Amino acid sequence: MIAPSILSADFAHLADEAQAVAGADWLHVDVMDAHFVPNLTLGLPVVESLLKATEIPLDCHLMIEDPGRWAPPYAEAGAHNVTFHAEATDDPIAVARDIRAAGAKAGLSVKPGTPIEPYLEILREFDTLLVMSVEPGFGGQSFIPEVLQKARIVRNLVDSGELRLLVEIDGGINADTIEAAAAAGVDCFVAGSAVYSTADPGATVQKLRSQAASAWSH
Ligand code: DX5
Ligand code: ZN
Repeated sequence: MIAPSILSADFAHLADEAQAVAGADWLHVDVMDAHFVPNLTLGLPVVESLLKATEIPLDCHLMIEDPGRWAPPYAEAGAHNVTFHAEATDDPIAVARDIRAAGAKAGLSVKPGTPIEPYLEILREFDTLLVMSVEPGFGGQSFIPEVLQKARIVRNLVDSGELRLLVEIDGGINADTIEAAAAAGVDCFVAGSAVYSTADPGATVQKLRSQAASAWSH
């Protein structure tokens, strides 16, 4: 699955930018609060408008403090998947349950330096694990290959039937890095600058998908 990140799109034309990647599996929406990360992007009102403007399921990545308070409204609004950060809450299970109760899939994200082992047990409460492969906050950074070990660990638990969730990766994914991520067992690839910096974002989505699929099959 390919999830283009609108962080690299033109914020004045979000409906058109969504339309440009109509073949994408999810549309990745980065919500930043200038507290959890040193950047500010968009929030619920923009997500509500986007939901009316596109049929692509929205994958909301909340890089915010206090997700227990702010995450469930994204699910209530109709986001397909609502991901928050493990580092932002003491009670990730409660947040995941509230997101699911509000009708969305729940995702847990970990920054590059956050180990996955302490969270393996609670991943049963989640539908996706979002492995950050750059420090959250900005698009266009370089991929950190060391995080792939986290994807491999969780992939093995999914393959052995101990967990049921999608492994998603976010940050620095492009034609040079997607194959290594696919080989590590990633299911869903977020790509911002690699998609929206090209003249034909829709064609780039298709190319990335076939690159990932061929790396998966090897
Ligand atoms: C970074 C965001 C990413 C960002 C990825 O904090 O979570 O979704 O858009 O951008 P690229 O693909 O350019 O690294
Ligand atoms: Zn993101």
